[in-house]
Amino acid sequence: MSTKFVVNGLKAEIEGKEILKGIDLNIKGGEIHAIMGPNGTGKSTLASALMGHPKYEVTSGTATLNDEDLLEMEVDARARAGLFLAMQYPSEITGVTNSDFLRSAINARRGEGNEISLIKFIRQMEGKMKELDMNPEFAHRYLNEGFSGGEKKRNEILQMLLLEPKITILDEIDSGLDIDALKIVAAGVNAMRSEERGFLIITHYQRLLNYITPDYVHVMMQGRIVKSGGPELAQRLEDEGYDWVKEELGIVDETVGKA
Ligand SMILES: Nc1ncnc2c1ncn2[C@@H]1O[C@H](COP(=O)(O)OP(=O)(O)OP(=O)(O)O)[C@@H](O)[C@H]1O
Ligand SMILES: [Mg+2]
Repeated sequence: MSTKFVVNGLKAEIEGKEILKGIDLNIKGGEIHAIMGPNGTGKSTLASALMGHPKYEVTSGTATLNDEDLLEMEVDARARAGLFLAMQYPSEITGVTNSDFLRSAINARRGEGNEISLIKFIRQMEGKMKELDMNPEFAHRYLNEGFSGGEKKRNEILQMLLLEPKITILDEIDSGLDIDALKIVAAGVNAMRSEERGFLIITHYQRLLNYITPDYVHVMMQGRIVKSGGPELAQRLEDEGYDWVKEELGIVDETVGKA
């Protein structure tokens, strides 16, 4: 079955302050959607709310993955359903090695009684690490601890490749990546692209979209998607910034900070 990820009228707040003010998205398998937008407009909040971060309270709207209600699920159930988020700021976890973490994540996804064998896991992990040009020692280091910015991002992509999610949300995966790493990460995404998988890519820069061609580009302001288009929209934003969008829509302050 081709993947279908639908978000309707999603509103979410944090500590009583509304950040997301009605988000609609419709991502089909094989599609790549990019979200761009100035700082503080709700992009990461959207990613966190979809993944089920406990700090964000969804107050209305729906989010379904292949007709399953994601908002009813805990974070781990959302992951099992096939949702994956590569975070803008990946957490460091001391005491848990990267390989232990990856194997637990894979097994959580596969479910009890269907765990991956150690040998098969190691073979897969080593193969994917090679694809990403990662030093094998990263398997044995504590999760993200002391990783450089770019190493953390590459490690997020390693998780994606091993977990094979149906819907992948990448939040600023390109920030901190050098140009070679950017190409490697893009190749990882492009290799996973299929009818079964959709992507939501949050980015500030057209540069990433030179390597991963989006089908749709959405602009977020004030906790809403205020404009959508094709790849040419990203190019125009790169060239001209956001002022013309604000002017066109009569937006003075694009952030959700003051409302
Ligand atoms: N945990 C939180 N506590 C208080 N305010 C928050 C929290 N999370 C988000 N916000 C506020 O919500 C607004 C949107 O934040 P968000 O991180 O979603 O922006 P963004 O679009 O991802 O920005 P950037 O491009 O800088 O990453 C900001 O004003 C932010 O301060
Ligand atoms: Mg953000």
